[in-house]
Amino acid sequence: MTTNKETEPNIYNHAINDPQIYVRRCKLEDLDAVIEINEKELPEDYPYFFYKSILDEFPESFLVAQNKNGKIIGYIMWRVEKTPSPHSLKYINKAHLVSIAVSEGYRRKGIARVLLSNSMTAIKKHKIKEYVLEVRVSNYTAIRLYEKFNYKIEGIKKNYYRDGENAYYMTLSIA
Ligand code: ACO
Ligand code: ZN
Repeated sequence: MTTNKETEPNIYNHAINDPQIYVRRCKLEDLDAVIEINEKELPEDYPYFFYKSILDEFPESFLVAQNKNGKIIGYIMWRVEKTPSPHSLKYINKAHLVSIAVSEGYRRKGIARVLLSNSMTAIKKHKIKEYVLEVRVSNYTAIRLYEKFNYKIEGIKKNYYRDGENAYYMTLSIA
């Protein structure tokens, strides 16, 4: 099937049950809506300049989902970190999932799955060797999502969150 939407660059809607929902790259003017979702759905808040710098540095993997009225209903953002390779004196690039959230009324439609898969593909151009993330040990929903993508729990970070909760450190290596 060929539609305008599919030929337009940076617009993806594959695998979402609702064809009126799109996943596309975040634009500067979307940031306020992204921040609003973050503040509603997650206790970890960041200042505006933090979102802005991630958008400036890693725009290809900063994606949003929008509904049929153009309202932003989800986002994902990543950053790339250089870390020493465990096997040599070289440095390798890890993709670090900074944050993902989908507005409550739009959950369980496959939006997070599309946000994750498209952004993971997009960030590969930075020669990524591994994807990494932290998630609250109580966040069963998100842990299930990451497990679907074959992420494995590699360890626990004690007191990772400001309220004292522990984080699972989850990783997925690229073959
Ligand atoms: N119960 C169990 N598994 C679930 C649930 C649930 N309520 N929701 C999603 N999943 C798992 C399932 O395996 C699901 O696949 P399935 O529907 O085929 O069974 C898979 O995740 C994909 O589901 P999606 O519909 O794509 O997920 P959704 O769009 O609802 O978003 C998300 C999932 C982002 C975790 C959402 O629940 C949310 O925004 N939660 C609050 C914010 C949050 O916790 N973000 C992650 C924090 S960690 C971090 O950002 C690094
Ligand atoms: Zn992190």
